[in-house]
Amino acid sequence: MFRSIHLTNQFESADSQLTSLVVEQPEHGLPIITYWGPALPYERKEVELLDSQVGQTMGAGVDAPEMPSLLPTQAEGWTGTPLISVRRGANTQFLQLQTADVHHDASGAQIIARDASAGVQVEFSLQVTPSGIIELQTTLTNLGSEELHVERLWQTIPLPADHLELLSFSGHHNRERTPQRARFSEGLFAKESCVGRPDFNSAFLMCAGTPGFDSERGNVRTAHVAWSGNVTHFAVRTPYSHGLLGGGELLYSGEVSLREGEQYQTPPLLVAWGHGLNGTSQKYHAYIRAKHERIVPPITLNTWEAVYFDHNETSMMELAHTAADLGVERFVIDDGWFKGRRNDTKALGDWQVDLDVWPNGLEPIARTVHELGMEFGLWFEPEMVSLDSDLAREHPDWILRPNTERLPLPGRSQYVLDFTNPDVVEHLFTQIGAHIRELGIDYIKWDHNRFVTEAVSAYSGKPVGHAQTANLYALIDRLRAAHPGLDIEACSSGGGRVDLGMLSRCPRVWVSDCTDPVERVNIQKYTSLLVPPEMMGAHIAESPSHVTGRTTPLTTRAAVACMGSLGLEWNILALEAPARARIKQWFSLYKQIRERLYEGEAACATAHTATSDPAVSMTGLRLGDWSLWCFSMLQTSEHYPLSAVRMPGLDPQAKYRVRPFADPALYAKQVLPSAHSNLAWWNEDGVVVSGRVLTDWGIRPLQIMPGTAVLIEVERVR
Ligand code: DGJ
Repeated sequence: MFRSIHLTNQFESADSQLTSLVVEQPEHGLPIITYWGPALPYERKEVELLDSQVGQTMGAGVDAPEMPSLLPTQAEGWTGTPLISVRRGANTQFLQLQTADVHHDASGAQIIARDASAGVQVEFSLQVTPSGIIELQTTLTNLGSEELHVERLWQTIPLPADHLELLSFSGHHNRERTPQRARFSEGLFAKESCVGRPDFNSAFLMCAGTPGFDSERGNVRTAHVAWSGNVTHFAVRTPYSHGLLGGGELLYSGEVSLREGEQYQTPPLLVAWGHGLNGTSQKYHAYIRAKHERIVPPITLNTWEAVYFDHNETSMMELAHTAADLGVERFVIDDGWFKGRRNDTKALGDWQVDLDVWPNGLEPIARTVHELGMEFGLWFEPEMVSLDSDLAREHPDWILRPNTERLPLPGRSQYVLDFTNPDVVEHLFTQIGAHIRELGIDYIKWDHNRFVTEAVSAYSGKPVGHAQTANLYALIDRLRAAHPGLDIEACSSGGGRVDLGMLSRCPRVWVSDCTDPVERVNIQKYTSLLVPPEMMGAHIAESPSHVTGRTTPLTTRAAVACMGSLGLEWNILALEAPARARIKQWFSLYKQIRERLYEGEAACATAHTATSDPAVSMTGLRLGDWSLWCFSMLQTSEHYPLSAVRMPGLDPQAKYRVRPFADPALYAKQVLPSAHSNLAWWNEDGVVVSGRVLTDWGIRPLQIMPGTAVLIEVERVR
């Protein structure tokens, strides 16, 4: 068959992303991954590691060393959680897969394995992508004549023995991606989402590393399942083997039944290695950027926090004119534009313009927005339906429900449409498509505001999971193909559906409904472990915050939002001229940032500083000789004045000028009143410091007030 395949992207990528993956075939059974991580010093030739990796067979178990293959099963001695579960009728099929065929080139391999007596074929696809991300995908085929029910097919990748600390994420509405750490002890640590979307409580990214790893330090390996439905991320370890990192779909019993020749394909498992999390995020960013045309984020105004459901054509027109005057480039009408939608209890599914509030339809506002030189965007929540809607009255059988006797619990008074019914998807394609054509919609904010629970299709009689998500992707792909240039933002009560399945088709994600910058610092920081800054929607909103009631200066709100895809979510009509002028000033500053970071050929890198002080945060966007850093103070600190902060990733041999970004006076009101002297470098000239000092030692930051942030620019001196 084959002995060893060394896959690498080393001829295609930048140094920090050079990755090797070594797959080796033992005498029997399936191939084993014997190494993955930084590129090995072999040039496209065989590297044999198997003998160096396989342990001895020990007593009191089965007579095989536990050395997990591409799909570990009991037949090879795997004693951990089952990673595949298939049955015919009521009977579980225990598989003993044997490699049958292999194709590979320098960076990818397709490996086909079969269990002829069970009538099952499994095809493994392994790809070291130019980004350095390894993409794993597995396809199962039923070779038997009897139906095969697939209940689980999860993918894994082995970990080095010293990766004994785990980092995953949790959260809820308005507090997305809260980090949580655990010792990677023996057993299974899984984070499962079974509400039809990854949700706020998703693992998001399952990270394992050498104890104490952080943004900059430690060897780290991470896994992400690029899927927007029911999903699990896990890490599993037994006393008999090193750990595995893995993930896949959570399937309902009976939802995937394969007739002869039919297939089930897992979502991609995307794994990365890095020195610190800055090293893994760089690879995910490169991976997802490669799926899109270059993204130059337009400054967006979204009407949600500006007017909520209080739509009115005259004031919306005024808002559009004011927005254009301030420098907004995309004007998005959020929820509330369609028939009867005066609050959130009704009308979802009735995607016709509400003529009570828009007597002339949306055509005049769309035309005005375009005439003002802005893109026109509109909000939809296509997968949802309100009971109080014409759609639900006409097609009650289009609603997912456990049985004909009862509906699932409502969520925001709404229910979920059955995307496994082709009529539903066709109906939405036609309705949304008509608006896109008639209004010249450039951009859709695609929302999804409830859990998908107790989901059974009246159309097929089956529980709905995998196909709901697959058909959602197909609808988005079809709309984008039919309307070239259409951009879609993924939103789900804020950031409840942030995954690289959705982001492969949507160049922007609404990170969180929490627009309070103090909360946003960490939400954006951890979201950026997967999502590049130009894809993270970040809006300046009103103060006090509608979400937390916290008061923050405009400068802080703008500084934090400038680290993402900048926008505005604020009724600017209520503002006096000086406040409008300051917003306008920030928009023009953002355009300068954008020009440096996003408009050229190269892509900027995100760097988070591992700060020793939990009260502060430091995030940088680096491109070539220039970088922009957001320094924020989230609460009072034990250091008084604040201690020095570092800027990782700069060239240690180079010298850099460090100074406030833009006019230092912009930040004057954020200085703590008890700071009685000036900070020597906080002026237009700044200070020149070597990259070594900035990276390893740090410089003293401005003594700002808790709950504020400043931007610092760092430029190489030639
Ligand atoms: C939830 C989103 O996260 C908000 O931004 C807004 O679009 C509302 N839905 C509208 O209902």
